[in-house]
Amino acid sequence: MSSADPQGLQAFPEALSEPDAWLEPFDWYREMRDGSPVRYDASRGSWDVFRHADVKRVISDDEAFSVNPRTASDFEGLSGEGEGLILDTMLFQDPPRHDDLRAVVDDAFSPRTVAEMEPRLRDLMSELLDDALAANDGEMDLVEEISYPFPVIVIAELLGVPAEDRAQFKEWSDSLVAAASDEEIAERQQQSQQEMAMYFLDQLQQRREEPRDDLLTTIATAELDDGSKLPQEEALGMCMLLLIAGNITTTNLITNAVRCFGNQGVLSELAGNENAVGPAIEEALRYRAPVQAMTRIARSDVTLGDATIEEGDRVVAWLGSANRDERAFDNADEFVVDRAPTGHLGFGHGTHYCLGAPLARLEARVALSELLSLDGLALADADLSPTRSSFIYGVESLPIRYDGR
Ligand code: HEM
Repeated sequence: MSSADPQGLQAFPEALSEPDAWLEPFDWYREMRDGSPVRYDASRGSWDVFRHADVKRVISDDEAFSVNPRTASDFEGLSGEGEGLILDTMLFQDPPRHDDLRAVVDDAFSPRTVAEMEPRLRDLMSELLDDALAANDGEMDLVEEISYPFPVIVIAELLGVPAEDRAQFKEWSDSLVAAASDEEIAERQQQSQQEMAMYFLDQLQQRREEPRDDLLTTIATAELDDGSKLPQEEALGMCMLLLIAGNITTTNLITNAVRCFGNQGVLSELAGNENAVGPAIEEALRYRAPVQAMTRIARSDVTLGDATIEEGDRVVAWLGSANRDERAFDNADEFVVDRAPTGHLGFGHGTHYCLGAPLARLEARVALSELLSLDGLALADADLSPTRSSFIYGVESLPIRYDGR
């Protein structure tokens, strides 16, 4: 378990443990929705919830369920350092602490503030695509060239990371998301995390001394509603959270959208039709959600369907299954490019609804619009292997073909 993965890979159900199963988990979800919509899995010591109405309740009923893993009756601490750093962030805090922390960055991620970033994002994306076209000839890996680097560049710029530090910054980000497949990699990851933490602490200190017009300054100088200063540790945690929560998720949204559009044969239909791209991305978010599940802890005994979940029990709410529930969406297992779905749970729901949703949507729309301008864009034949990092859903690489720009 790394600090990027506080929920832990051991929380994966047996049925999804093989790579092929995780690449297409949707038949299994349907079986569960119809047969065991709320079930206890003794091997993981955790509940699973599959139907839209139940998933929505579990992730948004703050009275009944906590986001704080420390409240689980079997919580044993996270391995590695930095437990407090990540568990004290808004993602793992209940109200009222959650609301104080979120208020620090809410304005910076509001739809209005984010909309102003569009021209700059277009320039960044155009540059990235030019570089990718210059380095490749007719075929490229979408993940490596576009979907992965784009969100890292955007968040670095938004935070205010100086241009000369960007390459180093990207290296640290790479290491944060790499699967800790052996001890050596895990050690390197720990080291990168520490270096990155030292870097952020230094940058935050600089912003306190010399404020600038950037997100690091907002975080460094934040005063909470009760008039207290945001403690240094929590300021650091917030920077790390924005990286962890925002990068690999957006990477997979861009990649999953291209995969959906390619499989559905709608790439050329969408090209040049910018108004159709936003709704099509929304359908991709529903159909292949980059975050397939979130965990909660019961705060007291709770009845859900026929089951009684006991205080302190862990509950995995399967967003990816809720999004395919026929009870909420007609022909839910069909990708309908102009469905423009409302009520999908790809960004969660309620108090913890994704802070970065407007930014992620804009990044995806800008990336897709640029990509769709390529002549002859198509998926290349490839065996796909799924991303394996907590409940993040996507593919490690996605080769695409094109004739030119
Ligand atoms: C929360 C998904 C992009 C920052 C969430 C949650 C989901 C989610 C499902 C709810 C967690 C819960 O209920 O426990 C996604 C997806 C993204 C994306 C699918 C991309 C397609 C981003 C970006 C940022 C971001 C770009 C910021 C740069 C956050 C933060 C939270 C959050 C800070 C916690 C909010 C809170 O606790 O109030 N995200 N996210 N996300 N997301 Fe995103």
